[in-house]
Amino acid sequence: MSDPGIPSSKLPLATRAPGKCILFGEHAVVHGKPEVVLAIDLHTQVALRGATEHRLNGSAEAARSNAYLVEGLRRLHPDGPPLDVTVTSRLPRAAGLGSSAAFTSALSAGLWALRGGVSRAELAASSFEVERGAQGVGSPGDTTATVGGGYLSINAGTGPAAWTVRDGDREWAVRRLPDPQWVWVVGYTGIPRNTGETVRAVGRRLDQSDGPALLDRFQSVALEGVDALREERREAVGRLLDQNQALLREVGVSHPRVEALLAAAAPGCDGGKLTGAGAGGSVVVLPKPGHELEVARRIARAGGVPYIVKPAPLGVQLVEHLGVR
Ligand code: MEV
Repeated sequence: MSDPGIPSSKLPLATRAPGKCILFGEHAVVHGKPEVVLAIDLHTQVALRGATEHRLNGSAEAARSNAYLVEGLRRLHPDGPPLDVTVTSRLPRAAGLGSSAAFTSALSAGLWALRGGVSRAELAASSFEVERGAQGVGSPGDTTATVGGGYLSINAGTGPAAWTVRDGDREWAVRRLPDPQWVWVVGYTGIPRNTGETVRAVGRRLDQSDGPALLDRFQSVALEGVDALREERREAVGRLLDQNQALLREVGVSHPRVEALLAAAAPGCDGGKLTGAGAGGSVVVLPKPGHELEVARRIARAGGVPYIVKPAPLGVQLVEHLGVR
């Protein structure tokens, strides 16, 4: 990876991680199939300071009940001194835009900095373990985006992998994709969703007899998506986003509000789909060049919260040592 890892640091410190958007392959990736993720320029910042007991945004009770913080501290800071953890984020929570992954990787990066630093590959594996430990299910897709930055493919292509995350007999090989310099629009439906429940429901659907064939269709769309992105074939990417949405509908994770936002955006777009776990959450659409604002307005008029987003080229970073006077 050209991007270096996280260096050693001391308290107080701050880290910053981008949000994420999934262009192809959510849910199928949990079953080892390919995925394409994009880190987006809506960031989460985590500041760590010394304290007399663990606190999250000033509250000891919040520090005890936030599963991601509890899991991160258990794995990466078991004997460390109490921390005051302050989170500020531009990402709506539980919206499918990676708020949990951004928090998890920013927290993990900060805790690793206190332990003497970490490589990006190790941080990716460790952030996945923390997120999965907190959620109970899932793939390393979201933390791959927030740790790696830019466009990344998982389990697609044959060149050398930037890193591989392993879990039992399952593995996810991560490769960088070139940035075609497109602007995307995401739209939050306003309906929060629960990733764990949605992943389990799709798992039950995929246990049916046509499950393997469905997973193969997810795989074909994602692999074609990787080729179309590499070759900057915009209309083909749009068509494949629509095909991916049809598959997500078929496994039961679309939602009337998702469909309403996609229908509202469609006249100004090359294609679009839900992004993340679904059952609410957000959509991602590829606006025709110059139509970004129009598409954002269409989403807003349909009741969604639009964000015009660009790729965040860098994954999680140590932004500053907050300075001890
Ligand atoms: C959630 O953002 C993406 C899912 O594929 C779950 C996961 O990969 O962990 C639905």
